[in-house]
Amino acid sequence: MTVPQHVAIIMDGNGRWAQKNGKPRLWGHARGADTVREITTLSRKLGIKALTLYAFSTKNWDRPEEEVSGLMGLLKEYIRKERSTLLDNDIRFRTIGNISKLPEDLITSINELKDASSHCKSMDFCIALNYGARDEIVRAVKKVTSDILDGKITHETIDEKLFDSYLDTACLPPVDLIIRTSGEFRLSDFLLWQGAYSEFYFTETLWPDFREEEFRKALASYSQRERRFGKTSDQIRK
Ligand code: FPP
Repeated sequence: MTVPQHVAIIMDGNGRWAQKNGKPRLWGHARGADTVREITTLSRKLGIKALTLYAFSTKNWDRPEEEVSGLMGLLKEYIRKERSTLLDNDIRFRTIGNISKLPEDLITSINELKDASSHCKSMDFCIALNYGARDEIVRAVKKVTSDILDGKITHETIDEKLFDSYLDTACLPPVDLIIRTSGEFRLSDFLLWQGAYSEFYFTETLWPDFREEEFRKALASYSQRERRFGKTSDQIRK
C-alpha cells in the first residue's frame, strides 16, 4: 500500500456529533480531541511523515465567545497532556496560521512544545490555528515584497518554488491527501496553494467517530489513486 507522506484533515462535524448525542457543542470538540490523539499515534505507526489538522480558522473567531474560549482551553490542555506522547514518539510539533492573535498563555505553551520537540524527526504534527489560506498567501506576498525592498531577492527570482518557501508550510512535505469529514464538500480556505495536486477524500462520518477503521479506509482509497500531475497514464507507468 502506498502511504501518503503528508495527510491534512478538515476535522468537521463535532457540533453535529454533540447535538446527535444531546450534549453541548464543546463536548463534541472534546471528543474530537480524542480522535486527534488516536489519528496522530496511528499516523506515526503507519509511517506518515506529516499530519496537518485544521483546528481553528481565521473565520472561527465569529463563533460564540463561549465556544471560542472553550476551544482555546481544549488546545492548551491537549498540548499539556500530549507533550510526552509526542516526544516519546519522536514527533515534532508545528503550527501554521497566524498564532500571534491567540491568547498569550496558549502561545507560550505552543512555543514551548515547538522548542522541546524541535529535534524530533520521525513525524511532523502540525495544527492549523487562526489559519486561512488566503491570509497565509497575503502574508507570504507581504514577506516577499519586504525582501525585495530590502534587496534580499529580486522580482525576477520569484517562481513557484520560491513562493512556496514563504508559506507557513515551507518546512513540510507536499500535501498528498486532504480528508474532510461530516459530508461537506468544501475546502473552507484550507491549503489552497498546497492542495493544487492533492488527492481528496470525503466521508459522511463525523470527526469524533473518525477512528482507526475510517482512517484506514481513507488511506486505502488514496493508495488506489493514480497521481498523474498533469501527465498521461502511460507516462506515469513507464
Ligand atoms: C469543526 O466542526 C471543528 C472545529 C472548528 C474545531 C476542531 C477542534 C478540535 C477537534 C478540538 C481540538 C483540536 C486539537 C488539534 C487538539 P464543527 O464544530 O464546525 O462541526 P459542525 O459543523 O457539526 O457544527
